[in-house]
Amino acid sequence: MIYLDNAATSFPKPLRVYDEMDRCMRTYCANPGRGGHAMSIASGKAVSEAREKIAAFFNIDNSLRLAFTKNATEAINIAIKGVIKPGDHVITTCMEHNAVIRPLKTLEKDGIISLSIVEGDNFGRIDIERIIDYINPRTRLIVSTLSSNVNGIIFPVKEMGRIARTRGILFLVDASQGAGAEEIDVDEMNIDLLAFPGHKGLLGPQGTGGIYIREGINITPIMQGGTGSISDYLYQPEMMPDLIESGTLNTPGIIGLAYGVDFINKTGLNNIKVFKHSLIKRLMEGMEEIKGIVQYSLKDIDNNSGIAAMNFKGVDSSEVSYILDKEFGIATRAGLHCAPLAHKTLGTTGQGVVRFSVGCFNTVDEIDYTLKALRKISSRFN
Ligand SMILES: Cc1ncc(COP(=O)(O)O)c(C=O)c1O
Repeated sequence: MIYLDNAATSFPKPLRVYDEMDRCMRTYCANPGRGGHAMSIASGKAVSEAREKIAAFFNIDNSLRLAFTKNATEAINIAIKGVIKPGDHVITTCMEHNAVIRPLKTLEKDGIISLSIVEGDNFGRIDIERIIDYINPRTRLIVSTLSSNVNGIIFPVKEMGRIARTRGILFLVDASQGAGAEEIDVDEMNIDLLAFPGHKGLLGPQGTGGIYIREGINITPIMQGGTGSISDYLYQPEMMPDLIESGTLNTPGIIGLAYGVDFINKTGLNNIKVFKHSLIKRLMEGMEEIKGIVQYSLKDIDNNSGIAAMNFKGVDSSEVSYILDKEFGIATRAGLHCAPLAHKTLGTTGQGVVRFSVGCFNTVDEIDYTLKALRKISSRFN
């Protein structure tokens, strides 16, 4: 199978990810921080080293400000529900995933917050001035994706961070489609809260993710429970990461995630980026020459995290994705990608789009084969 669905979850993973998860499970995977015996200490040490490695990847000074979660959705919910107070106003964008939109719309429906959604042009690009227009004295939080999961456009997160910081507004970035594709520096970008999955561009396994919470930000946890720390205290510990990490951690997953990040560090984030850009450029340029194809990703490849979104004029995206899978062995994702507002913006609500998302293990030959498949499909519809 040619796997072009890396925006959903990356596949394959670096070999060391499989090996180290296997070694962890077989040799030392006791409960981290829950016992004084050698195996529990080994597990705790491995988690702590993983935390440091991942924190350093985002230029987080104090790794204890990073808590592990099971995915990006959990991290986003922790961040939003943890900082919001009744009467707050929140600003977000028209390109957000349901992981952001649903918690916000629910809070709005329940009368807890008011919400402004910044509109974009027909590629989803937003005008940063519109954010400033929406800010009012009650604005407590700005939430933005780093990159759209529908067409890959990159958002001006650094500028948004500056706007938020200078006005004392919290800034939450959903790095689901940016982590591992773009350089993320929480300091330089003025990011207060960073939510990320471990299983996409960071090349870790499913069931992993994390939330960074800047020092000084008070979060009310959405869950309470055992942390292995101050067990005689009947309330949730206030120190990070225990405040957020209730219950047994996904130790093998976290180890795998750390080795995914290790692979990126060793390969070089920029080398991965340049390589993925070359594949996406080849795919998009090839598609330009195929009859009946409409594209929704920007040609400006530097502003793309690795996604080519397309349709055949008048053909349902699910049908094309189905043919690619069944007849050509190519994995893509069709439909609305859990981002209905993004599709409204792109004008593809009824049809959806076929999303090709590349990863660092795809090859030029795979892209050429995909283009060949698209040419054959085109001859059927045109
Ligand atoms: C932009 C964006 N945000 C959030 C998510 C949710 O990520 P997870 O499945 O890790 O919760 C996704 C997943 O595709 C995404 O693309």
